[in-house]
Amino acid sequence: MAKAFKRNDGRKVDEMRPMEAKLGVVKSAEGSAMFKAGKTIAIAAVRGPREVVPAHKQRADRGLLRCTYDLLSFSVNDRKRPGPSRRSSEIGMVIENALLPAMDLSDWPYTSVDLYVYITQADAGTRCAGINAAALALADAGIPMKELVSAVAVGKVDGQVIVDIDKHEEDQGEFPTDIPVAMMPNSGKVTLLQLDGKITKDELNSALKLAEKSCKEIQEVQKQAIRAKYVSKEESK
Ligand code: CDP
Repeated sequence: MAKAFKRNDGRKVDEMRPMEAKLGVVKSAEGSAMFKAGKTIAIAAVRGPREVVPAHKQRADRGLLRCTYDLLSFSVNDRKRPGPSRRSSEIGMVIENALLPAMDLSDWPYTSVDLYVYITQADAGTRCAGINAAALALADAGIPMKELVSAVAVGKVDGQVIVDIDKHEEDQGEFPTDIPVAMMPNSGKVTLLQLDGKITKDELNSALKLAEKSCKEIQEVQKQAIRAKYVSKEESK
């Protein structure tokens, strides 16, 4: 008989790591937020909308979203050289593309919304935690969005489709498959879908169903974080 699949931390296959979210963690920024899933922690901060420098990058028809992403050196166990890398530039672009479909920057020509996403603890799924924190930071900064974007990495480990893969799982099994997904959960629109590894069509469909269910759970955590900020403002009046 095949051995039942067991997750290292005892989670069910469709269970997220414990999540936390908080707005306003960088007081000097126009908007900011922290998003945590298990041991992965992302901080996002927004500056702007502000005039684009250099001027030749300005657009007359709309504002720009420019995202910087990086792992802080102390966020990983291995040695991580401070400063940008090909990986960090690519993930910055991935985060930008995951958020843009939810945004309308047509009211801010010549300006940019500069979004900074830094990972203080990495245990896999950092681009997804980064997107979750970034959507909250944009909301905190008052940037209009059609809806919040929520993200999670699903995938296949030892033949089992699971949600919210951690680093132990990512390094487990012979051919683990990692699928970061971002969605606008209410409209069901997928804004990011990457796939590293191999998966059958049926498995991909069940992985996407898991992602959809989890993104709705994530969006609830994000909404609670927004409510928490407004409730505490009311209370301090
Ligand atoms: O973090 P994410 O899953 O979005 O992207 P990845 O490039 O697939 O990285 C997976 C994980 O590998 C990260 O979350 C870190 O835990 C780890 N990693 C690391 O330890 N050192 C690096 N230089 C890059 C990634």
